[in-house]
Amino acid sequence: MRHLLSSSDLSVAEVDSVLDVATQMAEVARRPVKKLPALRGRTVVNLFFEDSTRTRSSFEIAGKWLSADVINISAKGSSVSKGESLRDTALTVAAMGVDAIVMRHPASGAAHQVAGWVDASIVNAGDGTHEHPTQALLDAFTLRNRFGSLAGRHVAIVGDVTHSRVARSNVITLNRLGARVTVVAPPTLLPAGVDSWDVNVSTDLDAVLPEADAVMMLRVQRERMSGGYFPTAREYTVGYGLTRARLGLMADHAVICHPGPMNRGLEISADAADAARSLVLDQVAAGVAVRMSILYHLLAGESVSDVEGVTSENHRAVRPVAPEPSVPSAAPVRAQAGASV
Ligand code: MLT
Repeated sequence: MRHLLSSSDLSVAEVDSVLDVATQMAEVARRPVKKLPALRGRTVVNLFFEDSTRTRSSFEIAGKWLSADVINISAKGSSVSKGESLRDTALTVAAMGVDAIVMRHPASGAAHQVAGWVDASIVNAGDGTHEHPTQALLDAFTLRNRFGSLAGRHVAIVGDVTHSRVARSNVITLNRLGARVTVVAPPTLLPAGVDSWDVNVSTDLDAVLPEADAVMMLRVQRERMSGGYFPTAREYTVGYGLTRARLGLMADHAVICHPGPMNRGLEISADAADAARSLVLDQVAAGVAVRMSILYHLLAGESVSDVEGVTSENHRAVRPVAPEPSVPSAAPVRAQAGASV
């Protein structure tokens, strides 16, 4: 596979492969020298037409830890602000010979379009209200680390489902991994067509909380709201916020996730965000490992092994090099046999 545009692009085996390799990538974060040679000579461009803290910086760190050259381009400060079209910007970036473009855009479908225009691998880092597949993978990685497996686990996705690309991608990935998903939202923030999703739908958070193994809170996306979806912020919190009182409704083993950025005091209280059962910072850490795995799966292909002369023995597992930064001939990492994303 050349691109990662939607969570539905990945089979169960491919999701497992991404998460398994991410487990090995996470080891790198624990080393004093965080560097693998896998993507030496490869160039990754982060092309962001929307604001981002976690996604863009974690892709940048991921690429750099894999020895790729990483360049960040944001709409502010680029020729986009002079009126250049998405197509011209994408063709311009691709013409520089880049291997992958990690792309965020406010229009749903933008990443798919760019994938049709350029030869580089495209990673969808969030397109409008459509999808955010790498967020779903890092959420799955975080929950799998906590529970061992997602099979049979019940995940409640709570809040602004209508505007959430995180919710859409998570529904696909969690279902792939055998979890049961309930989306919980006020009726005004349940998207049209949600009945056709492979989920349970509820408007009663208090009824769902005791049943959930994981509660994934969604940010209220005010920047995407053109009208009044709820009367006041206070009323939203009363009905759908993970307040201190609601923490008491959760099962003892249940955990809290939030993709960030959090609106503390609106969809999530400080008590919930900072609770021992909150995995918010684990999700951030997982973002680097999972994005390393994704870049690795997309870019560490045959051409790398040809150039480096890797033996088939080396293909069996990710083999981090010794932590000296100056080991030019160390074996590059390769995907596990059979892994193809
Ligand atoms: C996103 O870009 O969709 C974020 O990860 C979640 C959010 O903005 O609420």
